[in-house]
Amino acid sequence: MSETGTQSLTDEIPAGGVFEPPAELAGSANVTAETYRLAKEDRLAFWAQAAGRLDWSKTWDEVLDWTNPPFAKWFTGGELNVAVNCVDRHVAAGRGEKVAYHWVGEPGDTRDITYAQLKDEVSKAANALTSLGVQAGDRVAIYLPMIPEAVISMLACARIGAVHMVVFGGFSPDALASRVEDAGAKVVITADGGYRRGAPSALKPAVDEALTKVTGVDHVLVVKRTEQDVEWTEGRDQWWHDLVDGQSTEHEAQAFDAEHPLYIMYTSGTTAKPKGILHTSGGYLTQVSWTHWATFDLKADTDVFWCAADVAWVTGHSYIVYGPLSNGATSVMYEGTPETPHRGRWWEIVQQYGVSILYAAPTVVRTFMKWGAQELEPFDTSTLRVLGSVGEPINPEAWLWYRKNVGNGTATVVDTWWQTETGAHMIAPMPGVVATKPGSAQRAIPGISAAVVDEEGKPVEPGATGYLVLTEPWPSMLRTIWGSDERYVETYWSRYGKDVYFAGDGAKLDEDGDIWLLGRVDDVMNVSGHRISTTEVESALVSHPTVAEAAVVGATDPQTGQGIVAFVILRGGAEDSGEDLVTTLRQHVRKEIGPIASPRQIMVVAELPKTRSGKIMRRLLRDVAENRELGDVSTLTDSSVMDLIGQKMPASS
Ligand code: WT7
Repeated sequence: MSETGTQSLTDEIPAGGVFEPPAELAGSANVTAETYRLAKEDRLAFWAQAAGRLDWSKTWDEVLDWTNPPFAKWFTGGELNVAVNCVDRHVAAGRGEKVAYHWVGEPGDTRDITYAQLKDEVSKAANALTSLGVQAGDRVAIYLPMIPEAVISMLACARIGAVHMVVFGGFSPDALASRVEDAGAKVVITADGGYRRGAPSALKPAVDEALTKVTGVDHVLVVKRTEQDVEWTEGRDQWWHDLVDGQSTEHEAQAFDAEHPLYIMYTSGTTAKPKGILHTSGGYLTQVSWTHWATFDLKADTDVFWCAADVAWVTGHSYIVYGPLSNGATSVMYEGTPETPHRGRWWEIVQQYGVSILYAAPTVVRTFMKWGAQELEPFDTSTLRVLGSVGEPINPEAWLWYRKNVGNGTATVVDTWWQTETGAHMIAPMPGVVATKPGSAQRAIPGISAAVVDEEGKPVEPGATGYLVLTEPWPSMLRTIWGSDERYVETYWSRYGKDVYFAGDGAKLDEDGDIWLLGRVDDVMNVSGHRISTTEVESALVSHPTVAEAAVVGATDPQTGQGIVAFVILRGGAEDSGEDLVTTLRQHVRKEIGPIASPRQIMVVAELPKTRSGKIMRRLLRDVAENRELGDVSTLTDSSVMDLIGQKMPASS
């Protein structure tokens, strides 16, 4: 630990173990105890009321059709245009001059975009996509840095009923190619590059490489951001400014069915092949919009909201784009990293725009904690009143540090549990109503039913641990896995029957009935809030010519939550060149998946611990990786394997 004076903060916790809602917040909170009561009494009426916050061109016939579980239809027969709900209706209501985004580029350039300007930009981009032959239902891949064009592209797709599929700019050409192929995208929107840690980082070459591997992409639209040199494929590539800037700002938006697909987002599962999570329109926007308003106690006229995620993750989709815009909020959008050009960059931005609601991941809170509270001191962050957390369990210590040092000891911390699949918040203490407990996401939000169950699916007793399940369908739920209804049913709706959603997270129920999330129970790691499958990394390693077999585990890491630790067996003839080999393999994984999947440690071993049925015992490898006493080794074919592996492990890690 550095010189931060990190004595334990647990003495900050009031007697009783909870923080009562700040009086000011409680006095005018968007959600009240009555909201919980009404939602409990009639869940569907509650969601219908939430849907009523949106503009529908045609009202729905039925709130929920659950006659064919697990295939849900919400707001059947209803019609709306998602982009119109996010943009046009605010302009029509006379709020066109309101800032939608204070955009901040990493090098220091800024751009304020009003709702009226956003409407023009989205309309032009919609016209441009139409001119490229994009029609409702077609898929458009978006591979962009955190620049306004990312949001504009997403909304342009939504406006014309095209399905966007955003790929994180840090993903490799191979990862991009497999997603473009699986989704069947016909257009890719990218940029020459983006800024990352003070330097331009190229994007276009990755698209060029990816497109040598897939067919079907007719057009590549390129935003100029860094002015880096780019290769050009005539007839396929076009500059965004050449095509979009000259388009008309008039665009008549058509309404689409509530179940019209809105986007696909790929996420890691237990196999090497990422799953294309499909979200649709009416239900998704209803829950995203309601939760953005409720969970953060949004006062759209006065709050300045900042969700510090990348727009390419579901957090960005729901809480940089669709939630805030549907609510007519003003948001900050920041392109870069927290330490560029200095460690106070976030607080400088908070001060500059008067940010009042901040939504961030525990991994970044722990980084700030490591840097120390003095980094905040030069800046006025007193405007902050609600602090959200998302992506992984937040340690009580980090929670307390966040409240004390970022929230000036007065802000409310809201830990939000949800997933790419759930689309929106599911478990979170509603501010102003629920007294908060450091480290626990606590309870299902109004309109949501969650439970902690045992192996048989029976609810556990208070004090016990089990698996988190969702026992009723919800508006923003995924509708399927793109191209594989079967995998959808099998992954989420088979363990406890066709109407119980298995989230893949372990959870503990405490004596008050509050839920504590314990992390994934499947072979999925959580590194800095990003889901990475152990199998995916293993496959990447095994695809290298020197590797015969690989086992990957997530080991507890003070900074990133989990760190990736790989054990590899070399092929006959391959030589263990020590650090050189480790570097080569790391680079190989970066190339195959992306930098976020690069293992923290790679160990060359002679054997892997296996059961008699040949299953690798990752549990034991995790013990080694975390420097623990080994658990039960009795089911191993050969227990001496573990002695050899143990000797390999550097003691310091
Ligand atoms: C997994 C979902 C939700 C957007 C970001 C990640 C973990 C997420 C929490 C939380 C404990 C959390 C779970 C979940 N997770 N939020 N507040 N407390 N765990 O989305 O990549 O789909 O990952 O992240 O393990 O299953 P994702």
